[in-house]
Amino acid sequence: MQAIAELAERISTISVSSTMKVAADADRLRREGADIVDFGAGEPDVPTPANIKQAAIAAIEGNFTRYTNTAGTPELRAAICERHRLDFGTNYTSSECLVTVGGKHAIFNLVQALINPGDEVIIPVPYWVTYKDVVNYAGGTCVFVETDEHAGFEVNAKLIEQHMSARTKLVIINSPSNPSGAVISQNEFQKILEVTAKHGAYLMTDECYCHFVYEGEPFSIAAVSGAKESVVVAGSLSKTYAMTGWRIGFALAPAPIISAMTKLQSHSTSNPTSIAQKAGLEAMTGPQESIGEMLGEYRRRRDFVVHRLRQIPGVTLGMPKGAFYAYPNIAVAYEGGRVKNSFDFATALLEDAHVAVVPGEAFGTDDHIRISYATSTTELERGLERIHKFIDNIRG
Ligand SMILES: Cc1ncc(COP(=O)(O)O)c(C=O)c1O
Repeated sequence: MQAIAELAERISTISVSSTMKVAADADRLRREGADIVDFGAGEPDVPTPANIKQAAIAAIEGNFTRYTNTAGTPELRAAICERHRLDFGTNYTSSECLVTVGGKHAIFNLVQALINPGDEVIIPVPYWVTYKDVVNYAGGTCVFVETDEHAGFEVNAKLIEQHMSARTKLVIINSPSNPSGAVISQNEFQKILEVTAKHGAYLMTDECYCHFVYEGEPFSIAAVSGAKESVVVAGSLSKTYAMTGWRIGFALAPAPIISAMTKLQSHSTSNPTSIAQKAGLEAMTGPQESIGEMLGEYRRRRDFVVHRLRQIPGVTLGMPKGAFYAYPNIAVAYEGGRVKNSFDFATALLEDAHVAVVPGEAFGTDDHIRISYATSTTELERGLERIHKFIDNIRG
C-alpha cells in the first residue's frame, strides 16, 4: 500500500532558503576533494572559551542531566537579567526572562505567541532570512521596508512610520544587522521605539550581534526609560561566546508575553539542554574578555575585506559598522550575461572558483552577496583573490 503524505498547509508557507542550497553544494564539492574557501558560515571560527566548556564538563560529571524548569534554571534566568543589566543598564527580573534553544527559538516562540493571521510585521530589508518565514508560518503578513544601500542600509523611524498601519503588531529590528552590518544609532533607535509605541505595536530587538560594534558603545533599546512595556529582546549566546552549537538564547519581555512563550515551549522543546544551561551560566557570570578579543580580530578582518573588495572594479560596498559580514554589491558581474542574479552568481562562483558565499536573494536584495569574515586571514586572502579573478573573467 502506498502511503499518501498530506502535509499541513502551513508548512508550505515557509521555504528552504537558497543559503542551504549553496551550503549543500559546497559540501558536495568538498567531499569530492575540491579546495573550498567557505565564506558562508555565520559563526565565529574560534572555539568556545575554556571556562565555559569546563562548566559543561562539570555539569555532566555532577549529573546535572535531568529536566530543568521549562523556562530555564532560576540561576540562569537571574544571571541573564544581571548580565543584561551590567552590559546595558536594563532592569529585568526572572519572570521577564525565558531561556530558549538558541536566539532563533526565542524569535519563533515570540512570533507564534504574538501574531494572529493578518497581523502585520515590519521587517527592514535586507533582513535575516528567518524573520520572514517565521512570520509567514504564524499567518502574519510581512511588510518589508526597503532601505538605501548608499546610506549603509540603515533603517530609520521615518521609513518605519511610513509602513505602519492599524494592523501593525510588531516591528523587527536587528542592529548590528545580518547581513549588512548596519548599526542604528541610539538616537534613531529611540525614535523607532517612539513610533512603534505610539502605534501600540511591539518592538523586537534582535541583539544577536549586540557586542560586535566597531564604532561607539553597544547599547540596548530596552534600557530606555519606559521601553520595557513595548520591547522584546531576542538574545543569543551563540556569537558573543562562540557557542553556536550549544543552542542557548533568551527572551526578555513583559511577563505575560514570557508566560505565553513558556507555555508554547513547554509543549515543544521543554527546557534547553541542562548541560548547555550550565555552560550558559558560566558565560553570563564568568570572565568577559573573550568578547573584546574577538571584536578586535573581527575589526582587523573587516578592514582587510572591505579594502580588498573595493579593489575589484565595479564592486561597491559601505563600511559595515557591526557584526561580521560584508555585503558587497556585485551586480557589475551581471554585465557579462552569464549570471543574472545573486543565486546564479553564488552558484557559478562556487563551481568555477570554489568560494562559498550566500546570495543576497536570501536576504531580500538580489545585487549582493554576503561574505562572512569570521574566518582566518589566510582564507580571506585566498577567497577574495579568487572572487576578484572570477568577477574579472565573468565580465568578459
Ligand atoms: C540576526 C540573527 N538573529 C538570530 C540568530 C540566531 O542565532 P542562534 O539561534 O544560534 O542563537 C542569528 C544566527 O545566525 C542571526 O544571524
